Amino acid sequence: MSPILVTGATGRLGQLIVERLLAQQRPVRVLTRRPDTARKLFGAAVEVASGAFADRRSLETALRGIATVLLLSPIGERLVSDQTAVVDAALAAGVRRIVKISGSDWTIEPPGRSISGDAHAAVERHLGRLPLEHVSLRPNAWMQVSLANTLRQVLAGGPVTAVNLDAGVGYIDARDIADVAVHLLLADRIAGGPLNLTGPAAKTPRQIADLLATALGRQVEAVEHQPPPLLPGAGFEQRAVAQFATLIAAGHAAVATDVVRSLLARPPRSVEAFLSDQLSAEAVLAPTADIAP
Ligand SMILES: NC(=O)c1ccc[n+]([C@@H]2O[C@H](COP(=O)([O-])OP(=O)(O)OC[C@H]3O[C@@H](n4cnc5c(N)ncnc54)[C@H](OP(=O)(O)O)[C@@H]3O)[C@@H](O)[C@H]2O)c1
Repeated sequence: MSPILVTGATGRLGQLIVERLLAQQRPVRVLTRRPDTARKLFGAAVEVASGAFADRRSLETALRGIATVLLLSPIGERLVSDQTAVVDAALAAGVRRIVKISGSDWTIEPPGRSISGDAHAAVERHLGRLPLEHVSLRPNAWMQVSLANTLRQVLAGGPVTAVNLDAGVGYIDARDIADVAVHLLLADRIAGGPLNLTGPAAKTPRQIADLLATALGRQVEAVEHQPPPLLPGAGFEQRAVAQFATLIAAGHAAVATDVVRSLLARPPRSVEAFLSDQLSAEAVLAPTADIAP
């Protein structure tokens, strides 16, 4: 069985994907600029290919003997060139399937409203022109990023803040994205079109404040908050995040699809379940924190 190459394996989502592949006894190779970090995370269970997207020779070495690739790279100026480099090297190496982690659907369609979405769209188009089996996953905002930040703010005594308290988001649990990615990496066949992955229902910041108030047994305020204007010279990621906030405030992320359920034959994890998991973990950790010097 040839290993599956996972790029972005040491990151937030990549780790979840590698863990799941290993749990299914699948051989995994990870591409990383930080082999020591990969070893700490995964031990001897994975092959570590030391390299970087811009280093063609390291890509060629990492892709030797690989049939399937999970393609993930961070938001940034280099997203298109980095991901295109992996795709082209994969094609040359005889890879048969690429599962790409793309941007949220509402950042990609319609074109021209998000620099990050447009970058992902360019890679999707490139993949579409090549004789390679591929699928692009377009996850909505991840609970582990946006909601985890909200939860931290509330546990520190602050309110839930948002540009528009009534604009919902179809948050998805990153564990569901990883489950879908692994399903598609291992499936006998995959359908071609991009997949819009969401949680079971869109939730507004006001509803999240109410859920937290119930869970914590105290009042949790929801407060409208305009982000500070972007400074001249703001980087790609800062500009992309500012655009996300504007699109979310306009209601574009308030989408719920049945894609996770139809692929995995179970419903996606809910915001309620995510918050409950996080609060239970906090409760377990709290006594240790109290006795820490
Ligand atoms: N957060 C959301 O709500 C959301 C929603 C939709 C889509 N997305 C997409 O998810 C992706 C980000 O995923 P994430 O948060 O899991 O990423 P992350 O935690 O930022 O991890 C980035 C990964 O990329 C690797 N990497 C970075 N530069 C590299 C290079 N030059 N060569 C080789 N590897 C490199 C890093 O590996 P090493 O440091 O070990 O080399 C690391 O494993 C983005 O494409 C974003 O558009 C996110």
